[in-house]
Amino acid sequence: MAFATRHFVRAASSTAATAAAKKLIVKHVTVVGGGLMGAGIAQVAAASGHTVVLVDQSDEILKKSTKGIEESLKRVTKKKFADKPEAGAEFIEKTLKNLTTNTDAVAVVHSTDLVIEAIVENQEIKNELFKRLDKFAPEHTIFASNTSSLQITQLANSTTRQDRFGGLHFFNPVPMMKLVEVVIKTPMTSQKTFESLMDFSKAVGKSPVSCKDTPGFIVNRLLVPYMMEAVRLFERGDASKEDIDVAMKLGAGYPMGPFELLDYVGLDTSKYIIDGWHSLEPNNPLFAPSPLLNKLVEEKKLGKKTGEGFYKYK
Ligand code: NAI
Repeated sequence: MAFATRHFVRAASSTAATAAAKKLIVKHVTVVGGGLMGAGIAQVAAASGHTVVLVDQSDEILKKSTKGIEESLKRVTKKKFADKPEAGAEFIEKTLKNLTTNTDAVAVVHSTDLVIEAIVENQEIKNELFKRLDKFAPEHTIFASNTSSLQITQLANSTTRQDRFGGLHFFNPVPMMKLVEVVIKTPMTSQKTFESLMDFSKAVGKSPVSCKDTPGFIVNRLLVPYMMEAVRLFERGDASKEDIDVAMKLGAGYPMGPFELLDYVGLDTSKYIIDGWHSLEPNNPLFAPSPLLNKLVEEKKLGKKTGEGFYKYK
């Protein structure tokens, strides 16, 4: 009897160990934040067969998000099913069936495998959201943030599930861009969580790359200092912004010049990122703020979205 009990305990604990080591296959996703990024993430997740709940602060915002998703799906379908309109219509119908909306994340998080946060880029507001959801989400649920510039470690520390927390940094526009930066190696993210996030990124049709929890991850870490260096070149009067843009397009093969890109991204967003990094590493010359960028932001010349940044837009 003692032997049988011992054997049973050993068998049960080895089953538990195997289960614990197994990756989580994400089926149900909650996306919090239905803006530019969140709507795109919800769309690609639903289109790849996941059950998705998109959460935002009001029904009005969510109506706008859903309308945007429907329009984007029509564009995707036109290309993907150019000569099979019936299959295209079926794809749209299936995708929208997978997608619901809600204004209360707490009410939906109890049955989710993965929470992807894509709300406003503000540490306190994000921390507050994660802390609240941590109380209501099941044990196995993985939390991920789409933040561009905040530290994943600090967000993870607002929860009790640091081992089930990572970054999933998608690119804009989400349905078109192939890359997802999967931020691991916060010292606390488990291998199982990392692998589950890599698998999820592949399941939604993206190419994931991994990176430590370092300012800007890979793409922005290279791109933002490059754009700031272009501003400094222009500020010193070494070259005109038009010539710098032409030079980088024709000389480096970039699709946009740095000033065109700054206007596209938004000067306020770029200033926010560089100011944040500067406060983390004040002696790093790559992260030095620019008086010209600060002046344009003060004048509300934020780029394409306000009709003027480095260039004027009609
Ligand atoms: P956005 O302003 O278009 O959307 C944010 C949405 O979050 C809004 O609809 C807002 O109503 C909602 N929201 C704010 N607080 C909330 C709360 N407590 N609960 C539920 N919903 C809430 O912003 P966007 O551009 O989609 O950015 C979202 C996140 O993605 C940010 O962290 C940003 O840094 C990051 N990101 C942005 C990229 C971009 O190109 N815009 C690229 C990659 C990452």
